[in-house]
Amino acid sequence: MSVKKIAVIGGGTMGSGIALTAATNGIEAVVVDISEEQLSRAKEYHKKQVARAVSKERMTQEEADASLAILSYVNSLDEASDACWAVEAATENIDVKKTIFKHMFETFAEHVVLATNTSSISITDLSSAIPEAANRVIGMHFFNPVPVMKLVEIIKGKETSEETTNATIALSEQMGKIPVPANDSAGFVSNRVLMPMINEAFHAWTDGVADPEAIDSIMKLGCAFPMGPLRLADYIGLDVCRDIMMVMYDGLEENPKYLPNKKLVELVEAGHLGDKSGQGVYEYGKNN
Ligand code: NAI
Repeated sequence: MSVKKIAVIGGGTMGSGIALTAATNGIEAVVVDISEEQLSRAKEYHKKQVARAVSKERMTQEEADASLAILSYVNSLDEASDACWAVEAATENIDVKKTIFKHMFETFAEHVVLATNTSSISITDLSSAIPEAANRVIGMHFFNPVPVMKLVEIIKGKETSEETTNATIALSEQMGKIPVPANDSAGFVSNRVLMPMINEAFHAWTDGVADPEAIDSIMKLGCAFPMGPLRLADYIGLDVCRDIMMVMYDGLEENPKYLPNKKLVELVEAGHLGDKSGQGVYEYGKNN
């Protein structure tokens, strides 16, 4: 059965991308964020993206208008309570997410799947916040930028039902994505492999092996990466990178190899988060 309306909780980089992808595939999407500023940014991003798609002839003006017409923006979960699917894409912090999951459980009808876009947090840990509905909790891990990247990593928790899993695979396909399963271990597959590489690029920089431009050029030209690891860190968000490393450190027996690099932490603490703040490893124009 196809999904008609999804609620996306968290309207930042990922939430806004998930909502847009749903809408361009004909699924009504409501973005829920506690920050009015983020809601406005999400709306602007949606307008810009569809205008761009029209100018590149990837979409007609009618299709663009139809997509924007089924997107909405609210600052409270209660206003999204009629959705028949929920995907949480808020800040990568287990306490924040557990609180949101309790609220999702209270808000949505009892058949609604409660998915999370977490990059690294254990689905079983997260679902312990709502033991009554742990069978409806699943990892639905999209990639950035969501409208472009094909993969959805699907992560079952200990209690996730087959019904929830099959429905999540079906929705991923309805959104034009390719679902691939991974087990419920901190960082899953994608970030277990990617983040230590990004962290190591920071070590190479701070150990004086090369400057960021050279590190990125070497990895692009020598390993055929579309983007160097430090440029990618800015694109993902340095705070998100730091948070994922910490989740892996805590979740994988406090192995020191998962501790975030000192420079990465310092940049985050200084508010230099990458593209979204205009400065990270590199400097960007406003609203880059
Ligand atoms: P972000 O920092 O751009 O956005 C997070 C949003 O959550 C903010 O707009 C914030 O206001 C909102 N928020 C915080 N608490 C909230 C609450 N109680 N209710 C509603 N909204 C709330 O972060 P980003 O990058 O979008 O990441 C979101 C999630 O997606 C994280 O779990 C992250 O690990 C995951 N992720 C991030 C990727 C990336 O490349 N940035 C890739 C794949 C997954």
